Amino acid sequence: MNAQTDSSWKGIILAGGAGTRLHPITLVSSKQMLPVYDKPMIYYPLSTLMLGGINDVLVISTPKDLPRFEELLGDGSSIGVKFSYAVQAEPRGIAEAFIVGRKFIGQSNVCLILGDNMFYGKMDFLRNALKRRAGATVFGYPVQDPKRYGVVEFDSTGKVLSIEEKPARPKSKFAIPGLYCYDNRVVEVAGSLEPSPRGELEITDVNKSYLKAGELHVELLGRGMAWLDTGTPRSLLEAGNFVASIENRQGLKIGCIEEIAFRMGWISVTQLEHLAMAMKGNEYGMYLKSVVDEQGFMSGR
Ligand code: G1P
Repeated sequence: MNAQTDSSWKGIILAGGAGTRLHPITLVSSKQMLPVYDKPMIYYPLSTLMLGGINDVLVISTPKDLPRFEELLGDGSSIGVKFSYAVQAEPRGIAEAFIVGRKFIGQSNVCLILGDNMFYGKMDFLRNALKRRAGATVFGYPVQDPKRYGVVEFDSTGKVLSIEEKPARPKSKFAIPGLYCYDNRVVEVAGSLEPSPRGELEITDVNKSYLKAGELHVELLGRGMAWLDTGTPRSLLEAGNFVASIENRQGLKIGCIEEIAFRMGWISVTQLEHLAMAMKGNEYGMYLKSVVDEQGFMSGR
């Protein structure tokens, strides 16, 4: 299999924040490290980037939690990914990721995903967005409670009219998920932002700046996609139940980074087998072994 990598894109996973809505669960543990059914939460956004073909990834977290992510993910060589790590000293907003990550981004385009955002379904929407080399692409997903999110408003022709962060009176039901694709100018845009009234560099302000320049593309995610939230105890449990339902029905795992690395052609079957052996005493390791054993049958599906 040819390796499927898009080297003009780099990825950032932002796994910061105090997770206050999940206290006391997150009093001593990072939110993005919490289990969503059978794996740490961060595996899901990481797997989304990987399925988009991105294997050069910066993980940004708090000074306290970053060492734990390094311990969990290492340098990434065992799964054909290159991980870098950087600290966000204070929760100064999502857009600060581009300032913290400026050196890492270099001259590349960059795809940012929030460490608590989970996507399930065909990832063609992301692969298509990454084909676009100029401007910005964000997504729209219908939700019952748009107030909690960035909200995008359209006219009847689909043209974007406005973007608002957590509006009291949302102008549409389309929330903007925490997955954003930008050309290299985002570094400059983020650097010129002023903090919002809540003291943060808002990702919505980055998107507004691209909108003003006529360079913001908003793609609606189809009904077949799941975008799940893990921000409250209830939504965390529901996300876990969702993963369990699909996995137990199909016998296939969601967000299994070792399997994805193999299917993307980034590691060999022998490397996958080593990873399976290292966890052979448990269900996750047995699953990896089953991927090794069934590779002829399932590969490419
Ligand atoms: C952030 C963004 C918001 C976006 C959401 C997606 O909100 O500010 O625009 O819709 O992520 O998860 P937060 O969850 O940090 O409050």
